[in-house]
Amino acid sequence: MQRYSVAMVGSGAWACAAVRMIAQNTQVDDAADEFVDDVRMWVYEEDFEGKKLTEVINTTHVNPKYFPEFDLGPNVVAVPNIVDAVADADLIVFCAPHQFMHNICKQLVGKIKPGAMAISLTKGMRVRPEGPQLISQMVRRLLGIDCCVLMGANIATDIGREQLSEAVIGYDNLDAAQLFQKIFQRPYFRVSLLPDPVGAEMCGTLKNIVALGAGMVDGLGLGPNSKAAVIRQGLVEMRAFSKALYPSVRDDTFMECCGIGDLVATCYGGRNRLVACEWTKAQLAGKPRTFEDLEAELLKGQKLQGVLTSNEVQEILKMRGWEGQYPLFTTVNRIINGYLPPKYAVDFVAGAKYHI
Ligand code: NAD
Ligand code: 13P
Repeated sequence: MQRYSVAMVGSGAWACAAVRMIAQNTQVDDAADEFVDDVRMWVYEEDFEGKKLTEVINTTHVNPKYFPEFDLGPNVVAVPNIVDAVADADLIVFCAPHQFMHNICKQLVGKIKPGAMAISLTKGMRVRPEGPQLISQMVRRLLGIDCCVLMGANIATDIGREQLSEAVIGYDNLDAAQLFQKIFQRPYFRVSLLPDPVGAEMCGTLKNIVALGAGMVDGLGLGPNSKAAVIRQGLVEMRAFSKALYPSVRDDTFMECCGIGDLVATCYGGRNRLVACEWTKAQLAGKPRTFEDLEAELLKGQKLQGVLTSNEVQEILKMRGWEGQYPLFTTVNRIINGYLPPKYAVDFVAGAKYHI
């Protein structure tokens, strides 16, 4: 029987939580041992307290910078060279912040094992002059391999603590999706299969904009009613925008854990919410801070996706003359770019006009 070798491309908080689950699964030696035990993880090399981060991870089995509380497992091997990390992999898991994915893929052109399959855990999209491109589409286009997606309400530290979480694998290729399901599924991590990969990836991408709105609500000191209004309108705009770009996207995808599930989790417990909340408080206190500054202080190297995604999506809305149909997306974008004060974060509600 073929034994599949798995590689992780990325080493941030979610990449570490995910590789920990994969390593738990590949380590099992049973009659149907389909996977090579060792999982190679590409680490964007940096110094950590005077040592190379890869050396620290390979010595301690912990990524002290991005996922400090958790043992990744003895079979996770940190590799600083991206080509070496994926060279022998049959199954490649992409989990890097979306702004780095194009550069990552370019380095891998022509270096992938023939027949390899990929899955993307990255939430975000790229905007090119010819139109938007989802990360799975980028992987497919640049590397010429199948790429499904794994999306859900998956806050990394909760998964590290082995608290129940759900995810979907959005797929075109069922065989690939079933293989990936085997490497992720854990008793505390329930993975189901969804034949709407584009819908799932759009949900994961767009909820980061809504989470900024939720953080603004918290920063303004408003309560659950206001946050519920942001979440509700956010879901409406996520669905409308996804279907406007990709008409094949299914309505029921938005009721899955990648849709409403992830939206709620991120609007209550995510990094985008946290940073937008503190940004709003600083604005209200008359001591404005930048998102970059707060990201560096609060996230300590982890990356915020919502601000970039809001600007990317807004570019599409502008190009297509759609801004008026997306009052929450547009208002959030106006606020983060300083064209409106944060108090307008809830001004898209019935009867109110959005502000351009
Ligand atoms: P992270 O934000 O915790 O860490 C940032 C990562 O980027 C680090 O591994 C760092 O080494 C790397 N990096 C920095 N500069 C780089 C460069 N120039 N090129 C390449 N890499 C560089 O990362 P994460 O949480 O694993 O996020 C990856 C993706 O997963 C994102 O799209 C995010 O939205 C998504 N996601 C995150 C969570 C979560 O809870 N953290 C949950 C679900 C999905
Ligand atoms: P944040 O990047 O806002 O923390 O969201 C994490 C996430 O995507 C949970 O599913």
